[in-house]
Amino acid sequence: MKRVYANWKLNLPLPEAVEYAKALFNATQEEARYTEIVVFVSHSQIFPVSAVLQNTFLQVGAQDCSQFDKGAYTGEVSARMCSAAGAAFVLLGHSERRRFFGEKEDLLRLKMERALEAGLQPVLCVGETLEERKAGLVETIIQNQLSILPQNSIGARSWIVAYEPVWAIGTGMNASEEQIEAVHHFIKDRIAQVSGNTPIVLYGGSVSPENRTAILALDSVDGVLVGGASLQLETFLPIVQEAARLGKH
Ligand code: PGA
Repeated sequence: MKRVYANWKLNLPLPEAVEYAKALFNATQEEARYTEIVVFVSHSQIFPVSAVLQNTFLQVGAQDCSQFDKGAYTGEVSARMCSAAGAAFVLLGHSERRRFFGEKEDLLRLKMERALEAGLQPVLCVGETLEERKAGLVETIIQNQLSILPQNSIGARSWIVAYEPVWAIGTGMNASEEQIEAVHHFIKDRIAQVSGNTPIVLYGGSVSPENRTAILALDSVDGVLVGGASLQLETFLPIVQEAARLGKH
């Protein structure tokens, strides 16, 4: 099965988010049997969007969680709070968190622990900048980013990793099929070696109705994480439909 995850980022005011969630559910009732659809919403929208999607096949995720469980940490939202509000998933280490909020592996390791304790399924985002790619550092960077996955997890679960080259996010410049395949194989081999697990690896970075068919068709691509094109039904639906089409076979 190919997965389609939507990352709404800091967009969609609440009334629009709720209306859109309803419209998405209505438009994907058939498709949702053949693909896994998750919408990653801002913390304040987890509860209302989960309420709309309750008893449907669509699931909700948080875009981040705190490294703390509780206490005097003004402004933080814990993984447990996300879960209690209705989230089943959480994005960790999105490149925008790394870039604008300085998140690094030490912090992400703690967030990963809190997410797992709270029963959230983490989606670890990894990816290199253009400078790192030009310097031939893709594998080194990604190996380091993967190092936060707990290693004693044989058979415990399938890790979900989203490969999102930083230079492809929101730029309209998606990675080539060869680049995606090479990194996805690297991620799968690496995780299999370290933990004996076969991870689910998604691609993200300027996924659109135009390139969805070629990207989703790649064997090493278990799904896509979609930003800009996930904000409107007219651009998101064709991506969901393609994933569902492949899921039927
Ligand atoms: P994009 O974003 O599809 O707008 O490139 C993807 C992401 O940041 O998850």
